[in-house]
Amino acid sequence: MSTPSATPSPDNEINRMSDNKCPMHNTGADWHGAQMDFSNDMSYGDYLGLNQILHAQHPLSPNHNEMLFIIQHQTSELWMKLMLHEMRAVRTHLRSDDLPPAFKMLARVARIMDQLVHAWDVLATMTPPEYTAIRPYLGASSGFQSYQYREIEFILGNKNAALLNVHATTPEFPLLEEALRTPSIYDEAVRLLARNGLPISAERLNADPTLPTVADASVQQAWLQVYGDPTRYWALYELAEKLVDMETAFRFWRFRHVTTVERIIGFKTGTGGTAGVSYLRKMLDVVLFPELFALRTEL
Ligand code: HEM
Repeated sequence: MSTPSATPSPDNEINRMSDNKCPMHNTGADWHGAQMDFSNDMSYGDYLGLNQILHAQHPLSPNHNEMLFIIQHQTSELWMKLMLHEMRAVRTHLRSDDLPPAFKMLARVARIMDQLVHAWDVLATMTPPEYTAIRPYLGASSGFQSYQYREIEFILGNKNAALLNVHATTPEFPLLEEALRTPSIYDEAVRLLARNGLPISAERLNADPTLPTVADASVQQAWLQVYGDPTRYWALYELAEKLVDMETAFRFWRFRHVTTVERIIGFKTGTGGTAGVSYLRKMLDVVLFPELFALRTEL
């Protein structure tokens, strides 16, 4: 905006001239003081490894819509990577009774999940014929083989040793095997309840970490005590609600996945070999933190 009352000065004149310069005629020597030469400096693309990321899309079909399919999966995997980074740190903080940073990270994980829930809207623009055109090129590849997704399930306590078989011949196998054997975030939350003087059964505290979480009456009683006296147990109360937020967001993700899949492939079998939608619907029944939901009937 021009300021007629401003006193003209040689400096103002020069700035105005360079601001008015058409970008098409900019010589590249100067643009608002921005650095232009990165022959000796790290640039944006160098820092982010954009050469690798932006050259990692290799459509196999001649179909225009395959790019959406690839980028939707790749971006989901990137967000999963961040989720795992945060979740592993949450588990460590819970182990050392350091709750404030764990809360911050749990909030971030829930927001990432929300974002992944909304991402289904983009994929839903793919119609059944568009998917059918690329399906022959997908072979047997499926999100079912996502090792990051499997680790997320494991770290949340939905352990299933049989699913390791999918990864038996891959370099990620040891990582996933370790994730199966490591107590989940919820196991650590239950141990925290015990360290805070709430009685937890020995059976629950010594539960085999390679098995899925099983509801335990003493854990439910302990959470009930927390919800019955939030002032006394404020940090545990906050932790409980953060865990409920996270599981809720995860359930939404599962729900949007199955509804988007049904919209696109109907009741055809999955590329990964399952029955497809009916398999994904069964996964909607998985409850990660059973007592935190069961206790609500009692409050
Ligand atoms: C048109 C798009 C999609 C279709 C038709 C589809 C279909 C399916 C089907 C049928 C399954 C069951 C396993 C199988 O037999 O393949 C599955 C599993 C899975 N998909 Fe998708 N999917 C799509 C997009 C996505 C996207 C964008 C992601 C994001 C990473 C994703 C992640 C997963 C995961 C993690 C599983 C395993 C779920 C579990 O075992 O509980 N899918 N998908």
